Amino acid sequence: MSQLDQAAVLHELIKSRRSVRHYEETSVDRAQVLAALEAASWAPSGLNNQPWRFAVIWDGALKDAIAGLTRYATTLRAAAVLVPVFMDASAGYDRTKDCQAVGAALQNLLLSCHAQGLGAVWIGEILKNKDRVRELLELPERLELMAVVAIGYPAHGRQQSHRKPLEELIVCEK
Ligand SMILES: Cc1cc2nc3c(=O)[nH]c(=O)nc-3n(C[C@H](O)[C@H](O)[C@H](O)COP(=O)(O)O)c2cc1C
Repeated sequence: MSQLDQAAVLHELIKSRRSVRHYEETSVDRAQVLAALEAASWAPSGLNNQPWRFAVIWDGALKDAIAGLTRYATTLRAAAVLVPVFMDASAGYDRTKDCQAVGAALQNLLLSCHAQGLGAVWIGEILKNKDRVRELLELPERLELMAVVAIGYPAHGRQQSHRKPLEELIVCEK
């Protein structure tokens, strides 16, 4: 594939990804989730410190308990799998840069899901209960919850979104 074609495919994937909050009841293949996590792990990070950590939750009772900690409970309950994403303090060196790196990993995760035909949404609202999520999963305090990603096959393709025009975003060009 030419570089131009590659860029066109990438841009199309980036632009067509939507937050998916309604899912089919179909289960998701573990290999697909692992592929998305591998894509996440190829995100850039300061000093290549790779501070992201992932939990993969298939268990219905546990999904239900996590869902109870956010007002997006319906979405979390309907998802085939939940991926709580953490930042590992023991790998960290600069809080801002570590958070940015985990954000980059999250975006890779969402894009890989989309490229594989899966729907996903980044749930941040649950961070108000980040310690309770970690405790439910019996994980150590050095892991700080950054988001929960809900994943499943999209129930429909009607999600719409919009972006500000570039002219509003470029604050300086000289
Ligand atoms: C930091 C962050 C937190 C978010 N938290 C939530 C959330 O708690 N619940 C939710 O439904 N969507 C959440 N989203 C998804 C956004 O609502 C969504 O990305 C935005 O509306 C743009 O829509 P799009 O992803 O379809 O382009 C979050 C996204 C980010 C980056």
